Amino acid sequence: MKNKGLFVTVAVLVIGLVGYGIFQGTQKDEKKTTTSSSEKETHRIGVLQLVSHPALDQIYEGIQEGLAKEGLKEGENLELLFQNGQGDQSKLNTMSQQLVQDKAEVLVGIATPAAQALDNNVKNKDIPIVLGAITDPKGAGLVASNEKPGANITGVSDQPPVAEIIQLAKDLFPDAKKVGMLYSSSEMNSKFQVAKARKKAEALGLEVVEKPVASTNEVAQTVQVLAGEVDFVFIPLDNTIANAMETVNQEATKQNLPIFPSVETMVEQGGLATVGISQKELGVQTGIMAAKIAKGESDPATTPIYTFSKGETIINKVQAEKFNIDLSNFDNQEIRFIEK
Ligand code: TRP
Repeated sequence: MKNKGLFVTVAVLVIGLVGYGIFQGTQKDEKKTTTSSSEKETHRIGVLQLVSHPALDQIYEGIQEGLAKEGLKEGENLELLFQNGQGDQSKLNTMSQQLVQDKAEVLVGIATPAAQALDNNVKNKDIPIVLGAITDPKGAGLVASNEKPGANITGVSDQPPVAEIIQLAKDLFPDAKKVGMLYSSSEMNSKFQVAKARKKAEALGLEVVEKPVASTNEVAQTVQVLAGEVDFVFIPLDNTIANAMETVNQEATKQNLPIFPSVETMVEQGGLATVGISQKELGVQTGIMAAKIAKGESDPATTPIYTFSKGETIINKVQAEKFNIDLSNFDNQEIRFIEK
């Protein structure tokens, strides 16, 4: 009798435990199926790129990679609406309107003028906007602060180490007295960088000659003028100049003028050297942030701007030889050489 009682108790306990286990198991399974079905849900993301230049193209590639890292893939659960404004302000506006009409859930702006156009066309701030490589989000009027953006906008900021670039230029040309700064008068991102570059140049005892241009049409002539006035030229992350890099290079070659851009792609195109941020990585981080917002995992208002500011020293070997630069002094530094 006693034994029977014990047996029943044990049996009840076992049945209970096994039952609870099965119940837990099914609950977990249910949870799993709900998450995976939300990941299967198709997300529509709109991207507006200011213009095609090699750096922005790499950022867009990175964005697609970042989206895929977060499980959003074209042809499966991602509809990617891509527009390229070809550097034209009125196109940026109509394309922004188009992306809003097409009901993109999240908008991504590559380069400052593209992000500004999106912002101007999301009237009630009801669509999240992710900034793809915007140098100065606050200065461009896009967020209240980088730490607490405050509304529908967050994203990635690229702040190239301009002081290090100026230092590198001075190390390569120790006798230099004057530095030229070539940029577009309409780009907020450039003004921010030029101000920092000026500070460093002056601290090193260099005289600064700023040459803002109104459009790409003025680039060739401005480079010629600079060649007569300065020892080397610094170019910030400026979309107008990046788009005219071939012209810059042609004129600089004619005049034997060293060019220090702020990105690797412009060193590949014939600039002498830089300390540059990986454009691909900027894009990957932008894509990850856009995906998280689309999936409802983060809120732009409380997601800080992610800032990239560490660069890699990159020297164009062919250019360095042309200027008879002795690279043996740089043996113990980490430098990547481009051989073309
Ligand atoms: N940071 C630039 C902006 O705010 C965009 C940009 C990213 C860029 N990478 C670049 C411009 C390389 C020139 C070259 O608009």
